[in-house]
Amino acid sequence: METNEQGYTSLNDRFLEELGLIKNTAELITLRARYIGKNGYVTAALKTLVGLPPELRGNVGRLINEDKNLITSALKEKEEELKKLEISRKITSSKIDITLPGYYKKAGGRHPVSIVMREVIDVFVSMGFSIEDGPEVETDYYNFEALNMPKDHPARDMQDTFYINTDYVNTGTPSAHNAGNTEGDVLLRTHTSAVQIRVMQREVAKSKEMQRSAPPLRFIAPGKVYRRDSDITHTPLFHQIEGLMVDTDISFANLKAVLEGFLQLVFDRRLPVRFRPSFFPFTEPSTEVDIGCFFCKQTGCRICKGTGWIEILGAGMVNPKVFQMVGYDPEHYCGFAFGMGIERITMLKYGIDDIRLFYEGDLRFLRQF
Ligand code: PHE
Repeated sequence: METNEQGYTSLNDRFLEELGLIKNTAELITLRARYIGKNGYVTAALKTLVGLPPELRGNVGRLINEDKNLITSALKEKEEELKKLEISRKITSSKIDITLPGYYKKAGGRHPVSIVMREVIDVFVSMGFSIEDGPEVETDYYNFEALNMPKDHPARDMQDTFYINTDYVNTGTPSAHNAGNTEGDVLLRTHTSAVQIRVMQREVAKSKEMQRSAPPLRFIAPGKVYRRDSDITHTPLFHQIEGLMVDTDISFANLKAVLEGFLQLVFDRRLPVRFRPSFFPFTEPSTEVDIGCFFCKQTGCRICKGTGWIEILGAGMVNPKVFQMVGYDPEHYCGFAFGMGIERITMLKYGIDDIRLFYEGDLRFLRQF
């Protein structure tokens, strides 16, 4: 500890010189310890007071305390200054730009075919139809036979069928005998019409058990169907909705009313609707239903192939032979059935010209729905 004749040399100059060199808080902390810490210069100076002649003690003590106050407040000031400096340095050097927009959180969405499937279901549910389900792996009986398409019936050629090698299904390995031979009784259903048979059979069995007559029916059957077909309007897997209404007094007029009402609701506009004679083995008479082409206002375009009409579904009055097959008395019951492809309706609703877009999983396509 330096002393002059009065017993003390001020620490101020030295301190201020050192303070001027401080560049950060860490350095400031050491500087503070060196001057006013427990083993600091100021503390040491105060300890020398006892060794001084009593007449000097008061003055020197006061000087040391003045220095101490000055040092303390200078340190405090420097501390604040450094803090501000460090914050602004952090802001300017930081790599985080808080003004940038946040990351877009990608949420999944409904597939366009599912959107339209739900819309179609909603329309029929609003008309009082219930919903039925059936297996996608079907037997020849439900898919063809009971729908008035016995083996070798030419109408089977209307739908190219995926047959399932039953040896493979039963044993898990294709037998040498059956390898390459896929013709069998088990298949992937080619249409949802198979559900008509399953539901009617079930209801007949139930009513027999309860000793009452078979009930009237009003249901739709949405689901996947499979055909060996692939081009810009066909995929091997697609979706259909089947409809069946059975009672003792159902007429073709009822069929017309239900389908015309449905088409206006699902396409959300007043549409010309045309019932064209056609053929299905399971309906008699049969019809194909066309809607007026809304792309060209029926003047003829690529989509309606210049005809002004777009085919949208198949329908007809339930063939009495089908009623007979499932045990509904054809003398007593009548009804109508219809079936339509959901992909086709979706393509028309959204103006999509290639069905394969639905199954390629391209997000640039799917994000638009
Ligand atoms: N099942 C027919 C098809 O897939 C459609 C249809 C259903 C026709 C019901 C008439 C009655 O083409």
